[in-house]
Amino acid sequence: MKVKNIACIGAGFVGGPTMAVIALKCPEIRVTVLDSNEHKINLWNNTVDKLPVYEPGLAEIIEEVRDKNLFFSTDIKNTIDQAEMIFMAVNTPTKIEGEGKGYAADLSNIEKCAREISKYSNSDKIVIEKSTLPVRTAEKVKQILNQSNKKIHFEVLSNPEFLAEGTAINDLFKSDRVIIGGDNTKSGRVAIEKLKKIYQRWIPSNKILITNVWSSELSKLVSNAMLAQRISSINSISSICERTGADIIEISKAVGMDKRIGPEFLKPSIGFGGSCFKKDILNLVYIARTYDLNEVADYWEGVIQINKFQTDRVSDKVEEFLNGDLSKNTISILGWAFKKNTNDSRESASIQVALNTLIKGGSIRIYDPMVSIEKIYNDINTGLQNKNFSIAKINKLMSKVKAYKGIYNTIKDSNLLIVCTEWDEFKTMDWDEIYQLMKDPKTIIDGRNILNKEDLIKRGFKIYSIGQVWKKLKFQ
Ligand SMILES: NC(=O)c1ccc[n+]([C@@H]2O[C@H](COP(=O)([O-])OP(=O)(O)OC[C@H]3O[C@@H](n4cnc5c(N)ncnc54)[C@H](O)[C@@H]3O)[C@@H](O)[C@H]2O)c1
Repeated sequence: MKVKNIACIGAGFVGGPTMAVIALKCPEIRVTVLDSNEHKINLWNNTVDKLPVYEPGLAEIIEEVRDKNLFFSTDIKNTIDQAEMIFMAVNTPTKIEGEGKGYAADLSNIEKCAREISKYSNSDKIVIEKSTLPVRTAEKVKQILNQSNKKIHFEVLSNPEFLAEGTAINDLFKSDRVIIGGDNTKSGRVAIEKLKKIYQRWIPSNKILITNVWSSELSKLVSNAMLAQRISSINSISSICERTGADIIEISKAVGMDKRIGPEFLKPSIGFGGSCFKKDILNLVYIARTYDLNEVADYWEGVIQINKFQTDRVSDKVEEFLNGDLSKNTISILGWAFKKNTNDSRESASIQVALNTLIKGGSIRIYDPMVSIEKIYNDINTGLQNKNFSIAKINKLMSKVKAYKGIYNTIKDSNLLIVCTEWDEFKTMDWDEIYQLMKDPKTIIDGRNILNKEDLIKRGFKIYSIGQVWKKLKFQ
């Protein structure tokens, strides 16, 4: 029997775009995205310029399918009862307490989903792990689902999501691969086939990979770990470049031209952010330690250590270039999202730069084209609270923060400008105007190596870009 009714628990960066694309490609299937956060559901049901997730191309799809075969709701009970297939796309952050604190994934949201599915189901269901989960989570999910004494069958599949924020719609339309992990039993094979049929509507069959559940769960963690590892690798080399006079852009090109290595993910930067890379590697480290594979755990933990080293290293340049005294200086941070084309600022390097700069006495002004001003203030406030500062101290530091809607009023009167996100609009700014607006020493830190250094030097700016030595400026 064909699937007619799909539910997805979790209307976030994964659940929203993924279900929008399924609804678009399968107009005969009714897709309902659920969330316990009523405000978020209201935003999904609001005008498309107010959607909680910004992704190029997403608003257009929502406009086309919303209220036709795509629905956003908080009605978990009825939606689950009616669905034949239920995706779990809830957040799985790093645990902040209990066993595995600081490393293991917090599975409480997934466990809650499983309890609710078990409670509200009155017919057989295919339950799909869309969230990124530690290997063997399906075992636990099955246990919870089968706790009720109802005579219904739950088939659990793993179908991790590989979309990247900023290119989510394109990634979903043209996935490199779709992985479906399931049991090699009769009911397992039927469930896999049903899910496969959905993806086959737009993904070529040779890109749909069928694996066992454990391989599917682990492949997602490994993919993210390896992507992050490439970033940390090139970033580690950028620091060697700055000491030796080698140029990281030339190195990236030379290394990436080797077909065995390839050019992707070899761009030096202030460090990776986002909700996934760090958390997924920590999770991998935890799994390795659980199996007494401490050398393996140390190896992967090094990727995170290098990332922190890189963000701190670049962030410290602010103080270095302002001669150690930030109290009389204003620093502009351009870009708050962890990468371009998203409004997600989770684990963004900008947060670290802002906190370091504030704590060292500087005043900061911030601009991002997509992250709301409210979110920016909230991120900084939370970051300061996490440092256990008193309320009085937090208020004092917060009084030195201003977030703006426009680039030029942000930059006005700044002594130093640091580019933290690679938004395209930062490449085409009016540098004549910026030169007039900035105060001495008119210094720029290009945390993404996206600016035209030669041009800016000619204009009289001082510029630091990652992994490239500018000896005449004594910036090293
Ligand atoms: N963001 C990405 O780029 C990305 C890419 C691939 C995979 N993933 C993985 O997908 C999962 C979801 O990530 P995300 O970025 O979409 O998270 P998110 O925080 O944007 O969204 C998760 C949503 O789930 C909701 N939720 C949590 N528990 C719930 C419950 N019991 N009932 C109803 N709603 C509940 C939350 O309110 C939230 O809106 C994570 O495991 C993540 O690692 C994320």
